[in-house]
Amino acid sequence: MTALLPSYVRLDGNAVTLVVATAGGIPAVLYWGPRLSDDTDPASLALLAARAEAPASPFPEVPLGLTPQAGQGWPGRPGLAAHRDGLGWASLATLTHVFSDGQRAQFEAVDALNGIKLVHDLAMEGEVLVARTTLTNIGDSVLTVESLAAPVLPLPGFAPDIIGFEGRWANEFQMTRQVRHMGNWVRENRRGRTSHDVFPGLIIAEAATTEHHGLAFGFHLGWSGNHRIAVESFNDGRGLVMMEALPLPGEIRLAPGESLTSPVLYAAVSNLGMNSLSHAFHRWLRARPEHQRLRTKPRPVNYNSWEAVYFNHAPAVLMDLGTHAAAVGAERFVLDDGWFKGRRNDRAGLGDWSVDTSVYSQGLAPLITHVESLGMEFGLWLEPEMVNPDSDLFRAHPDWVLDIPGAPQLGFRHQLVLDFGRAEVRAHIFDVIDAILSTYSIAYLKWDMNRDLSHPGGADGRAGAIAHTQGVYEVLDRLRAAHPHVEIESCASGGGRADYGILARTDRVWTSDSNDAIDRLAIQRGFSHFFPAELMGSHVGPGTCHITGRKLSMALRVATAMFGHMGMELDLRELDAADSETLAAGIALHKRQRALIHGGDLVRLDAPDGINAFGVVASDGAEALFSLTMMTEPRTSFAAPIRLAGLDTAALYALELVWPQRLGASWPMATGGRFTGAALMQAGIQLPRLWPGSAVILHLKRR
Ligand code: DGJ
Repeated sequence: MTALLPSYVRLDGNAVTLVVATAGGIPAVLYWGPRLSDDTDPASLALLAARAEAPASPFPEVPLGLTPQAGQGWPGRPGLAAHRDGLGWASLATLTHVFSDGQRAQFEAVDALNGIKLVHDLAMEGEVLVARTTLTNIGDSVLTVESLAAPVLPLPGFAPDIIGFEGRWANEFQMTRQVRHMGNWVRENRRGRTSHDVFPGLIIAEAATTEHHGLAFGFHLGWSGNHRIAVESFNDGRGLVMMEALPLPGEIRLAPGESLTSPVLYAAVSNLGMNSLSHAFHRWLRARPEHQRLRTKPRPVNYNSWEAVYFNHAPAVLMDLGTHAAAVGAERFVLDDGWFKGRRNDRAGLGDWSVDTSVYSQGLAPLITHVESLGMEFGLWLEPEMVNPDSDLFRAHPDWVLDIPGAPQLGFRHQLVLDFGRAEVRAHIFDVIDAILSTYSIAYLKWDMNRDLSHPGGADGRAGAIAHTQGVYEVLDRLRAAHPHVEIESCASGGGRADYGILARTDRVWTSDSNDAIDRLAIQRGFSHFFPAELMGSHVGPGTCHITGRKLSMALRVATAMFGHMGMELDLRELDAADSETLAAGIALHKRQRALIHGGDLVRLDAPDGINAFGVVASDGAEALFSLTMMTEPRTSFAAPIRLAGLDTAALYALELVWPQRLGASWPMATGGRFTGAALMQAGIQLPRLWPGSAVILHLKRR
């Protein structure tokens, strides 16, 4: 006999409530939104949501379950698509067990006829709903799985806007805003990495929602490979968000007894605007056990060699750069691409992870010793998933790459992808990196990944993109376990692999290859919706940006980089005295404010066109930094005042202009003053006439 199942399960955060109903044996979200009072009767929510018969529609209508299934007669996209050689394709799993302790809940449903078991795990962690779906093949034949979505969440009809994040190399995390339409809004990523163009995150909002006002729902899929994210809107007024890994044909086949778990969905809701969603996501990331390692010391300021020397390595030059870097305040020196055997350009060497002794005749030890003698840590670049055909590794193991017989590989930076789905490949790569980390004093790895998986076929002839991503996770996990003190950066031609899946085993994301400070402000703004500053690699680049050709002042470059995990990536030998002094002063300011920047609450401001404005406020409201950048000339002589946010309304703040060191414009506020939080937030600050490409940074301290 089946035990009596609860009709409703409720999970709460401080500001959010989720209610799941179980009517008809289908677990379905009845309410997900701002916190409801404890005495809200779930049955009253069901009554509020009850709908009469719609014309030309089934009645009662099919509930929108956590996994909508074809066997339920669900008219939209299914949360599970699986079959046994064409049979058993329409599952109808119904609830058998429900567990909940108020913080987490589990729903188990079984379809004995079709051999399907579905388990939904939901947890309210802080203000973030963390949810995954597990499918088990309880039949007696192989089950081919075409898709398995993370738990599906409903959307209310009063939230019509879809805010997406898209981009390209050197211009990631650009925001788009569209109105939902009937049918599907779908983004699919088949690049084999998280991708530059299809970031697996989105926000659904009311039409009037801004950074600090209005209802907003945020979603992110923690997965670093192929994925599909969809928003479906029905002509009966309902809507949903569905996120899933995207298997290639035949890629997932479960033997009897085998299970498959979807990537984790992270979801947040707020009626205080989009900025508040970021607080939920940032706090969730900061509370993770794996984040605590970042708190053992301040995040070191990086110096990265890439844009200074590219492949043109010479130990004496790099040592000199190290000396210059330490002099302006760097705390870590990262030797980028070009140090290993045969790597004199991007046509050769990937896969051969031994030091190029034609360049480094005594290995890396002299450089590392020099770097450490200057008080800096040493970091090293690797691209472990890749191999150049011109490499010893490829010559020895040409069969180790992902490949599709009869289909020519695409030219893509002269490199191919090793099949991390294969145990011997993973073992080799782990051993090689383990040896490097055991030989040298290395505190930091930059794990790069510079091509799509365009031909992700494994040695068995089957698609292997998912296995590759899982293999990358496994190698990273092994490295973390073997070398727990080593920090790892996730880089994929800039920000092509930024997601919570990779961040479970890495400590920083290289946000973008563009160090153009103006472009970076938009890139970092988009990125900041899901990731906090201490995970955001942000470098001071050359005076003329190598990507855009734009010339920007050192003051602006510093002002932009200091609000992330700061670093620099330029030939410091070329700086004149004034720029060196500005850079050193900016790094010093970053270090003074680092605890606030890396621990406070991000406050993005809705600013007039042409101005980028944001800040960071200590969680107790006692201190804040705000950065206001003039991106273009304002339409009027003076742009509209900037209203700050996130401050303590009643408090009196001492305001100080902390950047730039010398303001070229006249501004009464430049000498500071005392202002109430309410005045700063309601009257706003009138900026002086600044040239486009100028930023001011204000520090506020509660008196
Ligand atoms: C791409 C990265 O995004 C760059 O920062 C640099 O590491 C190059 N790869 C090196 O090849």
